[in-house]
Amino acid sequence: MTDPTLTKIHAERPPLFAALPPEVSIYEVGPRDGLQNESTVLPVERKVELIEGLVDAGVKRIELTSFVNPRWIPALADHMEVASRVRRKPGVSYSALVPNLRGLDSATRAGMQEIAVFMAASQTHNRKNINKSTEEALATYREVVREGIARGMTVRGYVSTVYGCPYEGAISLDSVIHVAAELLAMGVYEISLGDTIGVGTPRQVEYILDGLMRAGIRLDQLAVHFHDTRGTALANITVALQFGIRTVDSAVGGLGGCPYAPGASGNVATEDVVYMLHGMGVQTGVDLDKLVAISERLSGQLARELPSKYLKAHLGHCARLGRPV
Ligand code: HMG
Ligand code: MG
Repeated sequence: MTDPTLTKIHAERPPLFAALPPEVSIYEVGPRDGLQNESTVLPVERKVELIEGLVDAGVKRIELTSFVNPRWIPALADHMEVASRVRRKPGVSYSALVPNLRGLDSATRAGMQEIAVFMAASQTHNRKNINKSTEEALATYREVVREGIARGMTVRGYVSTVYGCPYEGAISLDSVIHVAAELLAMGVYEISLGDTIGVGTPRQVEYILDGLMRAGIRLDQLAVHFHDTRGTALANITVALQFGIRTVDSAVGGLGGCPYAPGASGNVATEDVVYMLHGMGVQTGVDLDKLVAISERLSGQLARELPSKYLKAHLGHCARLGRPV
């Protein structure tokens, strides 16, 4: 028997995905956020090949490496060689993390035209990750951003631990707004909101984006950066896009995690995001076949199974058909 209440709700329901955009900008963080946490360190040539392959697959924005202290992130100690050797393709934006003026000088020598400054909404995570309090980090970045812009660079900003901190637990919306607003006031063009340990849920996404908007931050100044630790990343992305976000960070193969965030696992996989978006009629400009081939090669080079669900499904499908990948 048909339930008349349900029939009425169905008839009056507005279209669910009316607010989805026709296209989304993918910001690829695999070579940086992905490889920073791998125990197998790829040689420079493989890293360069990975980056150039991702660009060939259609990625238009990509993070190459981090100009941080190699003692803190040994896997990216080759930052100078990698960033200098990648052939630049016109129309593609290449970025790298920079924690201080020393990192900015290295980035300048490597020919970087875009950099990203990064810090957390959590005091403790800032201490553990960049050895500074929140206010000390902001003071450092004031100089870095001013100097970077004076050198003709564009500067992106990260606010991590937005949805929760591995040391402090819940993080107040006020601290997120404070750090994001300070970074934007310095001249950062976009803030990427990091769910560093993958604890966020869709309602929380709405709450945080709504709070930032009410604080006067425009949606075109925001990007989302989810880790899929608890399987909520794609749902969170769908809500963020419905809310009006147009830039999504992701890592090929679902690589990644912050070595100074215990419990952090992979970033949402680029191929999972691209598959879902293309399936919903949202374009990314990324070729899914090329992307999954890169992911598969990477899995061999790192000698481990990667978290990407699309990759797993693809490999299973190829095995069933007895076809090479
Ligand atoms: P510190 O030890 O406080 O730095 O580290 P210092 O200024 O006291 O200097 C100590 C030594 O480091 C000196 O060398 C400096 O020259 C050297 P020494 O005299 O002892 O031989 N040094 C550097 N060397 C190379 N490049 C540099 C540099 N700076 C200083 N840029 C620092 C402070 C910030 C440098 C350190 O804590 C660091 O490098 N941290 C980076 C940690 C990191 O990269 N974590 C992963 C980032 S992922 C993340 O944050 C989340 C994100 O992915 C979003 C998300 O997923 O949610 C963005
Ligand atoms: Mg990340």
